[in-house]
Amino acid sequence: MLTIAMAKGRVMKAAVALMEQAGYLPPENLEKTRKLILNDEKNQIRYLLAKPVDVPTYVERGAADLGVVGKDVLLEANSDVHELLDLGTGRCQLSIAGPPDRDINQVRRVGTKYPNYTSAYFLRRNQQVETIYLNGSVELAPLIGLADCIVDLVETGRTLEENGLVTWLSLEDISTRLIANRGSYQLRAEEIDRFTKRMRAVL
Ligand code: PRP
Repeated sequence: MLTIAMAKGRVMKAAVALMEQAGYLPPENLEKTRKLILNDEKNQIRYLLAKPVDVPTYVERGAADLGVVGKDVLLEANSDVHELLDLGTGRCQLSIAGPPDRDINQVRRVGTKYPNYTSAYFLRRNQQVETIYLNGSVELAPLIGLADCIVDLVETGRTLEENGLVTWLSLEDISTRLIANRGSYQLRAEEIDRFTKRMRAVL
């Protein structure tokens, strides 16, 4: 049985729809169930329902053979996993955004859910900044002077617009990815290949 860690929430809905098209029907509605492990005996798939930030950990440590998770989470975790497929769902940008009358060179403090990624980015720019970790509603930080700008996901741009902020720079194209544990990818190549091919066929 292949174990696949699914990132609960936003990412999961579109990914599950794709998996269903590929013939992988979970035994229960993954979005509604409170169970954390579900077995699909027919397809020999075990689903783990995990918090998105934990998916790279389950996969890197081999608790799951495969994972379905956003590229933003992978960039932040920087885990040693194999990226197999871009599922093309959950598309958005990881961007730097702030007030329209300021720019990146004036930045001293950055609010973000992605502190590792953000620190590495500003280090590459040779710009010394303080990274302030926030867990959500990150756009609030520049509005009340906690940070000069944010590094966050922009999908429709509505949150920025309704809060008088603008994208300064788009840094990364984000979408949902299928990842594999490096050992599983070697040892269970046939099963993983079968799964990947069926998924690729519906993309
Ligand atoms: C995400 C992201 C932005 C918003 C972008 O937040 O962090 O705040 O969506 O979407 P938009 O460009 O379509 O407005 P989410 O809704 O996941 O909630 P959070 O702020 O609690 O992380």
